[in-house]
Parts: sequence; structure tokens; C-alpha cells
Amino acid sequence: MSQDAMKKQAAAAALAYVKGGIIGVGTGSTVNHFIDALATIKHQIEGAVSSSEASTARLIQHGIPVFDLNAVGELSLYVDGADETNAQFQLIKGGGGALTREKIVAAASQQFVCIGDESKLVSVLGAFPLPVEVIPMARSYVARELVKLGGTPIWREGFMTDNGNVILDVRHLEITDPIHMEQQINNLAGVVTVGIFALRPADVLILGTPAGAKTVTKA
Ligand code: A5P
Repeated sequence: MSQDAMKKQAAAAALAYVKGGIIGVGTGSTVNHFIDALATIKHQIEGAVSSSEASTARLIQHGIPVFDLNAVGELSLYVDGADETNAQFQLIKGGGGALTREKIVAAASQQFVCIGDESKLVSVLGAFPLPVEVIPMARSYVARELVKLGGTPIWREGFMTDNGNVILDVRHLEITDPIHMEQQINNLAGVVTVGIFALRPADVLILGTPAGAKTVTKA
């Protein structure tokens, strides 16, 4: 079974968590499958809060109303993908560059359901280059600080986030204490958001596998 077919299974399984109201929607190829699945039950929900321009466009294409987060209260559910997850559902996100808005919507939601294919589950975070969104003028300074932390930052050249910032993808980090590293990198001047989601991890993990979608229990 292809990786994409496994992502689609996980996305379909996440529909079970949709209980109406306004749904927080993440970004990426797995979430695109979720948006397509959500469209089949769109009469059961009021609409969505989106974490990126790309997801907003897809939601609108399907006729799902998109609300500004400031116009709604706390969300009951947020569904999003991840680039990596560990057994505590602490994540690396931002491969698609939408990490800041994703972190905001995750923080504003009661339940975070993370969807992906089985390859996303790893024992230690960090094989996937860690995305860090940075204010453009701070790019070189933040890169030097990330080197001091043991990483090798690479500027994602030609890419601008929905917020007008740049991304550094940091290789060679073995993230054994995700909460500490999230705090450390967040504290660097010029960093908007680090793609470690450990202070607010996912609550539920659904992984597509060749044997079907599996809801994984937190270790
Ligand atoms: C977007 O910025 C990311 O956080 C995505 O959630 C992550 O890259 C997962 O993407 P896929 O669903 O495409 O694997």
C-alpha cells in the first residue's frame, strides 16, 4: 500500500472525532485528504478555522465556511498531520512551512488529533530536519545560535511563510528532551516559532498502516 493511501486511511478515521461545531484544520497532504473527507459531512459542521492559505483555499473549494480564529471561541477539535511523532505524541511539524499558525490553532483547541502514515512514528525526534520560522533580518544570527545547539541550519531559499518570514531547516539534532529544546529555540531573539510541538503535544495519534488505520495509545 502506498504512503498516500495510508495517509488517506488515517484522514478518514479522524472523521470519527468530528462532533459538529467549528473544526480546526491543519496543513499538508494528509490534511488535504481530511478536508476532502470533511466535505462529505459538511452539513454536520458549522465550518473550520484554517492553519494556512493552502488549507483555506481547499476548504472554500469544498464550500466549507472558514472562520477567523479571533471570531470564534476555543475549538473542541484540531486535526493536523506531522513530519515526525514520538511515543508521547510530541511532534516535529512545519515541513510545509505552516508551523506558526498550526501551533496557534493547536494551542486554541481542546483536543488535537494527529494523522499520518506509520512512517511518522519514530523513537527520537530529529531525523526530519527541524523547521524554525524566523523574522528575515534575524536569519544569520539565529542560524549561528542553532549551530551552538549542535544543529546544521539550512535556509529554505525562495520560500516565504504565510506570515512573511523565512524558514531554517535544522539537521543533525537528536531531540531527546523536546520540551527543553522547544523552550530553548523559542527563546532565541528573532525566532517566531520552532517546529517542535512538545509543550502542546497531540492527544490522539491515528496512523495509516497496510493493515488499516490504527489509533495509537500514548506510551
Ligand atoms: C505543515 O507545515 C506541516 O506541519 C505538516 O503538518 C506536515 O509537514 C505533514 O505533512 P504531510 O501530511 O504532507 O506528510
